[in-house]
Order: sequence, then C-alpha cells, then structure tokens
Amino acid sequence: MVLRRKVETKREELARKRETALLGGGQRRIDAQHKRGKLTARERIDLLLDEGTFEEIDTFALHRSVEFGLEKQKFLGDAAVTGHGKIHGRTAFVYAQDFTVLGGSLSEVSAQKICKVMDLALAAGAPVVGLIDSGGARIQEGVDSLSGYSSIFHRNVWSSGVVPQISVILGPAAGGATYSPALTDFIFMVRGVGQMYITGPDVIRAVTGEQVSHEVLGGAEPHSTLSGVSHFAFDSEQQCIEQVRRLLAFLPLNNMEDPPRQTPTDDPNRMDVELADIVPESQNQPYNMVNVLTRVVDNGDFMQVHEQFARNIIVGFARFDGRVAGIVAQQPEYLAGVLDINSAVKAARFVRFCDSFNIPVVTFIDTAGFMPGIAQEHGGIIRNGAKLIFAYAEATVPKISILTRKAYGGAYIVMSSKNLTSDINFAWPTGVIAVMGADGAVNIIHRGEIGNSDDPEGTRTRLISEYEEQLMNPYIAAGRGMIDDVIDPVQTRPKIIRALEMLENKREALPPKKHGSVPL
Ligand code: HXC
Repeated sequence: MVLRRKVETKREELARKRETALLGGGQRRIDAQHKRGKLTARERIDLLLDEGTFEEIDTFALHRSVEFGLEKQKFLGDAAVTGHGKIHGRTAFVYAQDFTVLGGSLSEVSAQKICKVMDLALAAGAPVVGLIDSGGARIQEGVDSLSGYSSIFHRNVWSSGVVPQISVILGPAAGGATYSPALTDFIFMVRGVGQMYITGPDVIRAVTGEQVSHEVLGGAEPHSTLSGVSHFAFDSEQQCIEQVRRLLAFLPLNNMEDPPRQTPTDDPNRMDVELADIVPESQNQPYNMVNVLTRVVDNGDFMQVHEQFARNIIVGFARFDGRVAGIVAQQPEYLAGVLDINSAVKAARFVRFCDSFNIPVVTFIDTAGFMPGIAQEHGGIIRNGAKLIFAYAEATVPKISILTRKAYGGAYIVMSSKNLTSDINFAWPTGVIAVMGADGAVNIIHRGEIGNSDDPEGTRTRLISEYEEQLMNPYIAAGRGMIDDVIDPVQTRPKIIRALEMLENKREALPPKKHGSVPL
C-alpha cells in the first residue's frame, strides 16, 4: 500500500514537471508571443507533425549557467523543444527554439539538445526541420553559446547530402544564427515574422549611416526576391508549415533512398492538345513556361522553389506518373529566360540538391543564352555560370531535357546537353540549336557580302532567311544524335514518363575522388 502511494506520488511529480515544461518561459511570455501574432514552439511543432506523433526528448534539460543572475532563470527544456515524430507517416526530427525562454537564445545546453536530434537524424536517416526564433547566442554564456553554434554548423555540414535539412525562420535570426539555416537545403520564411541578418539595423546605422527597418533589411520579402537566401515566403505560420510538409512529401528520407513514389491518379498517356500552340510564331515573343510545366506533370501539381528569385529560371518539384522529379526550366516571360548570375546559381544549387537525393532532373530549354553586359561580366558570370555546367555534368541521376524553342550558344551546352551526359534529349519541332540567332549570325559571317552589296538591306534579309531555313530547326542536332527524338509537343508527358521509367535503375558513379572542386 505504502509502495503504491510512493509510485503514485512520483507519477504526480512527473506530470507536474511535464505541465511546467509545457509552459516554457511561463504564461506571461506565451501571451506576449501570441500578442505579436506568433505561435509558440510547441504550437508550431503540432502544426508540423502528424497529430499525436511528437516524441519529445530532453524535456527536463536545464542550463548550467550561474553568471549574470541566470541561476534564477531556469526553465525546463531551456530554450528549445526537440524530438521526433511523423510527417505524412514518415519519420522526421524537429527542433523549435522557444522565444519565451530568454528570447530563444542559444545556450550550451539548448545547443546540445539540437545536436542530439541532428545526430539521431543522421543515424536514423531522416530529415531535420529547425523552427528558428532566437535572439542568437546567449550573451551571458559567452564562449559556451558560441561553441554551441560551431557544433550545430559542423552537424549541418556533415548531414548535408545525407538527410534533407529545412529551416523555418519564425522570428529573429541574427548574426551567426543565420548560418545554420544558410547551411541547410531550404529556408522558409513568414512575412512580418521572420528576419535574418548578419548585422542589424542599429549596427548598420552606426557603421554606414544607412537607415533601415528590420523587415526591409532581413524580412521574407528581400530574402526571397533579392538575396535568394530564402527559398519560400508565406503570409502566415500555418501556411508556411503546411508547405514544409508538402515539400517533404517530394523528398526521400535520406540519400540511400529513392524519393517516395505516389500511387498515380493522372493518366500517364494524357496528351494536352494546348501544348501544340503554346510556343509563339516569333522567336522573341514571350510565353509562360509554367503553363507548359503544369500541363505535363501529374495533376498540375508543381511546387516551385525560389519562385520570386531569379525568375528567368524556374526550379521545383513535381511528379510524373507518381515518380518525383526536379524540374529546371527557362522562363521566356521574364528577361526572355536569359541565363545570368542569379539564375545560374539558383539552378546549379537545385540540380546538386536533386543529385544528392536521387531525384531525376527534367530540364525545359528556351533561352537565347547568357546575359550580355558589363555588370554581369564584372559580377562574375563566368565563375557563376560555371557552377551550372559543373552541376549538370556532375549529376549522375537520370537527366532528361525538352527543347521547346531556342538553345543558343553557351546556353545550349549548359542546359543538360547530350555531351554533358544528359540521358534523353527531346526537341519540339519549334526547337532550334545554333551558335546564335539569325540576325547576329548573318551580320558576322556575311559582313563583307552585305557591305559590298548594292542593296545591303535586301541582301541581309535574304541571308537571314537562308540561315533560318538551313539552321533554325532541330533536325541537324537530331541527325547527329544530340537530340534523341523530335516529338509532337502534345506527347511531352508520355515521353517524359517513359524515359523516367526506362532510367529508373540508372546507376552511374563519378571517378574516385574526395570531392570535386566546384567553382564556388
Ligand atoms: C540572452 C536574450 C538574447 C540573447 C534576447 N534575449 N536575446 N538573452 N541572450 N542573445 C532576452 C531578452 O533579454 C529578453 O529577456 C527576452 O530575450 C526577449 O527579448 P526582447 O529584447 O525583449 O525581445 P524583442 O524586443 O522582440 O527583441 C528581440 C531581439 C533582441 C531582436 C532578438 O532581443 C535582440 O536584439 N537580441 C540580441 C540579438 C543579438 O545581437 N544576438 C547575438 C547575435 S551574434 P527578458 O527577461 O527581458 O524577457 C550571435 C553569435 C553567433 O549569435 C556566432 C556563431 C558563429
């Protein structure tokens, strides 16, 4: 009887402690968090994971600091809630910084908690999602908190290419705190809630005299449109976390798995007649490549990554007959789909991610080439364009391309060309592979003839139409095997599906090496 009472008392003590831990930094601070329109760490985890699947770890962790009055500010779990659960029924690890405890600041102990779930994720081969809301390194702890960041960064790098890593910015991420997210695969941000910067507005004002708000400096808008730091931006935490779940459904749990195949609900032989008329008559007239993509993928479901950044190229995930593929496509509607520094880096990073996680790459090509200009040259278009060549050439996943219209010059070579080891290259009848467009070419190779002619304009027009007739078609490349087949645009979906099916067991290895030296 006495023993039973003792056990009962212990159980009550455990329940009390758990109740306390649920409150983080206390009800007053939870209310303050809600007042700012922000969710708490636990509410965020509940949104992320399948209902009732969260298994918390280190609920009872306490920081060990006694400096600066910290011994009186101990909260169960310290400033991070960590553990694992399920997303669409598959294992995922999560850590959520708890702003109600000392501003979510990173302590030695909260860093150890985060490192523990990262280690478990690596061992178990499952993704890690970090929900970031933190004032950065806990100032009172000095080097202990700084070295906590080093330990996290180290794990970010070692996990890279092994398990998917996602960061969701749901509050401040200042200074070094930005670099763990920056080392992960995808960054999600919420407008008006998450802010990332190396030095904040006060420091900037003191050093450069520039005046800027937190949101304009480091909010979701500048990072998803200008800097490219953020891959996704949303208006609410709920929407944002729902999209994290959507993204994870496209990804394998780790690099030893193939991406999950869904039972298809879209006809693999579906032919969209509208595709035949999508490419305009004129070589220079824009059209929206997204309209092509949504017509060929399963159920029109295409998840764009980096949608607002470097919009001249489109990257994202979709399925073909249930098989996941990464799509890279030029956007003729924006800057004529030209390749420039930002679009090259955006696509290169995406191709490398897909290659790390066994996701085939399907490329849609329509570009007049690289962007001319002093700013591009001096900004390093050579160095940055090389990244995209490197990424395509290095990728050993199945690679399929569809030339819808133009592939001129260097852009032909870069965009998954046959000699960069693309597996299957299709062209629409409107496809053209040439060193350059007819106008420019004729002015160079026939300069003398045009100059010496009695009718320079008439001669130029005649030479342009001769050039167009001879070279501006896909059949010369098809005659040399650089294009495997010229297809009716309406057949695009079934053709891609059959190619992906044929390449399902593709296994290709790079020559033995530690790693390539990608031109960073
Ligand atoms: C300890 C911190 C803290 C920190 C905030 N708090 N940041 N405690 N260390 N880094 C505490 C506050 O004292 C406060 O405690 C509570 O968290 C909430 O903070 P507020 O300032 O009241 O909130 P808010 O007005 O929303 O401002 C949030 C903030 C601001 C913008 C994050 O707190 C701030 O600027 N913090 C410092 C940011 C920073 O410079 N961190 C270091 C970055 S460098 P009370 O008890 O009053 O509620 C870095 C190095 C990493 O991280 C290096 C890795 C290589």
